[in-house]
Amino acid sequence: MIQLLPSPNYPIWIVLMVRVGEMTEEKFLNQTYKLETQAETLAHYEAWAETYDEEITENDYAQPERCATALAQYSTSKEIDVLDIGCGSGLSGLALSNSGFKNIDGCDFSPAMLEKAKHTNAYRQLFIADINEELAIGAETYDAVSAVGVLAFAHIRTEALHHMLRVIKSNGLLVVGLNEHYWEGDSVGDKIRTLCEEGVADLLFEEYGDHLPGANIGGWVAVLRKK
Ligand SMILES: C[S@@+](CC[C@H](N)C(=O)[O-])C[C@H]1O[C@@H](n2cnc3c(N)ncnc32)[C@H](O)[C@@H]1O
Repeated sequence: MIQLLPSPNYPIWIVLMVRVGEMTEEKFLNQTYKLETQAETLAHYEAWAETYDEEITENDYAQPERCATALAQYSTSKEIDVLDIGCGSGLSGLALSNSGFKNIDGCDFSPAMLEKAKHTNAYRQLFIADINEELAIGAETYDAVSAVGVLAFAHIRTEALHHMLRVIKSNGLLVVGLNEHYWEGDSVGDKIRTLCEEGVADLLFEEYGDHLPGANIGGWVAVLRKK
């Protein structure tokens, strides 16, 4: 938006236009935690795509870098094939790319978010997918999957962890980064521990830290190795 300081030298109508513009600049972050249905979630991200990066960066979004660092710690190579699930506008892919990963694909169910992700140049390919359903790709396709800020009540449900694990090769990695409310509230942490008890995966890393420190929200990062 054009920045103009109210000044006696500006006609009153210009000052009013700027003030109205400031008042109507829509913020989306708080609404994210009130979403209930998948349709609401999709509409929310379609509308937010244009300003998502700006609003989330204003709040010092920490998860993309935390997840990329954790994945790098357990990966034997940066040449591995990584699928960034719920890639959004591409902040999570950019963090992976900045950590040295070279072969990153991304998917999301929001076309507007995928359009943004395209412009990051962080991804080898991008495709539309609803991860609450089984992905239309073969089992054991990827060496690693990342799911950054996507496991949440109305977003990607805990059952989707099975869809993520299906596309990972044996001994491949899954990195998950999520808001603290969903680690406890939606039992993502419990689901991960159950998967490990069932012998599906090993939990290599689990760490509490920043999620959106600008909004006083902490979050968890977990790294699993599929058996
Ligand atoms: C908070 S954003 C996170 C985006 C990105 N990973 C990041 O860290 O900036 C959540 C993303 O999940 C996507 N999403 C939500 N539910 C989804 C679903 N069922 N299938 C695929 N993507 C979904 C949204 O469209 C949105 O882009």
